[in-house]
Amino acid sequence: MITGDLIRLRAFEPADADALWRWNHDPDVMRWMDQYYVNSLDQARRGLADRERNSYGDVLYAVEVIADGNLIGLVRLRDAEPEIGAAELDVYLGEKDYWGRGYATDAMRTICRYGFDSMRLHRIGLTVVEANEAARRVYAKVGFVEEGRLWDAFRRDGQWYDKISMGLLEGELT
Ligand SMILES: CC(C)(COP(=O)(O)OP(=O)(O)OC[C@H]1O[C@@H](n2cnc3c(N)ncnc32)[C@H](O)[C@@H]1OP(=O)(O)O)[C@@H](O)C(=O)NCCC(=O)NCCS
Repeated sequence: MITGDLIRLRAFEPADADALWRWNHDPDVMRWMDQYYVNSLDQARRGLADRERNSYGDVLYAVEVIADGNLIGLVRLRDAEPEIGAAELDVYLGEKDYWGRGYATDAMRTICRYGFDSMRLHRIGLTVVEANEAARRVYAKVGFVEEGRLWDAFRRDGQWYDKISMGLLEGELT
């Protein structure tokens, strides 16, 4: 268990598959996420049950609210490269009632601190769709800096959007 101020991070359990599947079928949650093919509930259940244990190359944690114990989202550090200590980060909160209360900011701080302190990462990177203002605000709040732009890298409802590439170096977490 990895504890932040408002949330804690824990391993996913097979029983969490139903929540994950529900989030992945909510258009508001998935609006700015890369998801073009949806999975069945059975596939989601088997996916979690068969998932390899967390390790340096792929760490997936459930985000749980300390105050009420509810599961509200996930964070993932993936594709870590030991030679340069770099990994990519994904975050999302599937429980919309919990948006706007600082939980994603705390989850980001907590997983980044874990990445730098426990995994000895030097760099954490991510990409975000330019129109995802809330996510960009969260990333900027914890210290991520814009590094570049991927032109027309995301398509939603017939419209193209750029993706912004962001990075956070060891020692720059705020
Ligand atoms: C984006 C997301 C992670 C934010 O989670 P959250 O818990 O609501 O975030 P926080 O409450 O910690 O912070 C949100 C910040 O964005 C700001 N914000 C919210 N909507 C905004 C908007 N439309 N424009 C600008 N800022 C906005 C809030 O005011 C807050 O900033 P503040 O603390 O300076 O006031 C969450 O809404 C989510 O998971 N969405 C769906 C999946 C997703 O888009 N994931 C990111 C993929 S890259």
